[in-house]
Amino acid sequence: MLKKAETHHQLMEQRRSLRDFSDKVIDKSIIEKLILAASTAPSGAHKQPWTFCAVSNPTIKKEIRRAAEEEEYENYHGRMSEDWLEDLQPFGTDWHKEFLEIAPWLIIVFKKVYDLKDGEKSKNYYVNESVGLATGFLLSAIHEAGLVALTHTPSPMNFLIKILNRPINEKPFLLIPVGYPADNAQVPDLTRKPLEEVSIFFE
Ligand SMILES: Cc1cc2nc3c(=O)[nH]c(=O)nc-3n(C[C@H](O)[C@H](O)[C@H](O)COP(=O)(O)O)c2cc1C
Repeated sequence: MLKKAETHHQLMEQRRSLRDFSDKVIDKSIIEKLILAASTAPSGAHKQPWTFCAVSNPTIKKEIRRAAEEEEYENYHGRMSEDWLEDLQPFGTDWHKEFLEIAPWLIIVFKKVYDLKDGEKSKNYYVNESVGLATGFLLSAIHEAGLVALTHTPSPMNFLIKILNRPINEKPFLLIPVGYPADNAQVPDLTRKPLEEVSIFFE
């Protein structure tokens, strides 16, 4: 058990958010399995309040990039606070998001604020917690498959509702490009907090 826990930690320790993607194709069958893995996540009253939109269509990716860059331009030129911009400095990010066209797949996670069947509304519970967990499962599955991803939030993300023609009960949650790293891909030199800083044991 300890060995398994250690091995899993070692695997997850290798996961990094990537911003430099290769355009190498990934078969749809792989993306389907990753989404199925994500959808095994626990959810409030087992409502599974999520939709994963998987986009490989170049025209739609282009449209998403254009709209995301429009929002990000505003974010980097006035909407983000000075503190926020300073915190982003080490990542070297700006409003340009070419990876949205280069990555072979974009998985857009939508949360179902409530369910809607035949015009009838029904409640979902702990939607943010549930969809956050499902997205975490997705990121783990992507990593385990040997692929890379970015957790991206070009907010406000309402443009995704329109482009992907989502119903009124769905709100965009996260935008996740998935692919292989580019040959020259780099990641920020981050360290993660040690156990003592992220946990307290009561024995
Ligand atoms: C909710 C959320 C939103 C994020 N939004 C962005 C984003 O819009 N752009 C970006 O480049 N990175 C984004 N990130 C990625 C973080 O910068 C990254 O996870 C963090 O720096 C830790 O790096 P790591 O994922 O490689 O461990 C986001 C991460 C989370 C969890």
